[in-house]
Amino acid sequence: MSTKVVCVVGLGYIGLPTAALLATNGYQVVGVDLNPHAVATINQGQIHIVEPDLDAYVRSAVVAGKLKAYATPQQADIYMICVPTPFHEGGDIPQPNIDFVLAAARGIAHLVKPGNLVILESTSPVGTTQRMSEILQEAGADLSSVHLAYCPERVLPGKIMTELVENDRVVGGLTPEATRLVSNFYRTFVRGEVLETDAQTAEMCKLAENSYRDVNIAFANEMSLLCTKAGINVWRLIQLANRHPRVNILQPGAGVGGHCIAVDPWFIVARDPKNARLIRTAREVNNFKTEWVIDQIKIAMDAALTRTGRKPRVACLGLAFKPDIDDLRESPALHIALRLQMQGYDVVAVEPNISSHNELSLVDLEEALAISDVAALLVKHKQFVEPSVKEKLHASGAMDFCGVGI
Ligand SMILES: NC(=O)c1ccc[n+]([C@@H]2O[C@H](COP(=O)([O-])OP(=O)(O)OC[C@H]3O[C@@H](n4cnc5c(N)ncnc54)[C@H](O)[C@@H]3O)[C@@H](O)[C@H]2O)c1
Repeated sequence: MSTKVVCVVGLGYIGLPTAALLATNGYQVVGVDLNPHAVATINQGQIHIVEPDLDAYVRSAVVAGKLKAYATPQQADIYMICVPTPFHEGGDIPQPNIDFVLAAARGIAHLVKPGNLVILESTSPVGTTQRMSEILQEAGADLSSVHLAYCPERVLPGKIMTELVENDRVVGGLTPEATRLVSNFYRTFVRGEVLETDAQTAEMCKLAENSYRDVNIAFANEMSLLCTKAGINVWRLIQLANRHPRVNILQPGAGVGGHCIAVDPWFIVARDPKNARLIRTAREVNNFKTEWVIDQIKIAMDAALTRTGRKPRVACLGLAFKPDIDDLRESPALHIALRLQMQGYDVVAVEPNISSHNELSLVDLEEALAISDVAALLVKHKQFVEPSVKEKLHASGAMDFCGVGI
């Protein structure tokens, strides 16, 4: 049997690991990205994003001639679309932006041939796979025996190369045959189970997974507000409640960040605002938690001003959207630091996972505690939970918004 060619459109955190994995699993892979720096870097056998083990996969695939990157789509047997799906800012309910997906579909329309598989992996509002097929047809593609399916990605950044292989996958085709053929393709490189459904269910499944996480975090965040007001330590409360055999409350924090959980629930709300009440409320609760943290810090800053008689300084401890990563996308901690600074507060930040920031003054923890009047723990990085550090944080009266436990 001849080697199948896979064209992966979008070589970011999802597309590049997928392309590299396929290239080391017997496929010839042509990757496409609009970003010339990404294309050039990959063709040198290097990577332009941070992800453990990815560099070795890409290097060996490129050296073996199995992976090559291009600026424009190339002829293939299988097309995989892994482009961003952000939302449009503004408005009461943020609306999904599927422009990148539609542009990617238009980009491959002239190449798609009968017998091809076209797979959408980008997290998308329900109906996007169908919309993609209409776009392909409008652009002149003959879809008579082209098989379109949706297969959402569930990987955790930092463990992508393992989870791409081990996670169970959900595949939903626009036809039962598309579902079967695309599922069989995934079974050639995924060790997890490949579960078959239709396109709309697969699209909703991904949105449901992230909304479920958001709703559960919102519960923990709401408990943290109620407990603070009542003078109860919410982390201890959650430990105790979780000893109930059927209770598992998540951990509260400074909000919810990242480009998945903080974004995808809006795709459900935007489509059916009347019925998506809980999901919308969860988004609002999690966003409100960030505003509440800002208010708490301001109260502490006012008290410091009264105490010392001079302009106080706040140290924001952690900027990333979750512990032990360098990703600041949609990060509540970053939002808090920037908002305080914008409002005229004197802010320094500690973020062990990045070396500089173009808007914030970064210092190390020792210095931050020495020069600040208020310290706010915003992200539970491993550097902050070491026992000797916790002692110092406790002695400085740091405000714990992320459960370091000082
Ligand atoms: N990163 C994750 O952890 C993760 C997890 C699950 C799902 N997802 C979803 O996967 C999708 C991709 O996310 P990502 O993190 O890889 O995004 P990313 O921003 O890291 O990468 C997307 C890439 O697509 C390129 N691109 C955009 N339009 C293009 C086009 N028309 N042709 C070719 N290239 C194009 C961009 O230049 C970029 O390099 C999103 O829908 C995201 O929500 C991401």
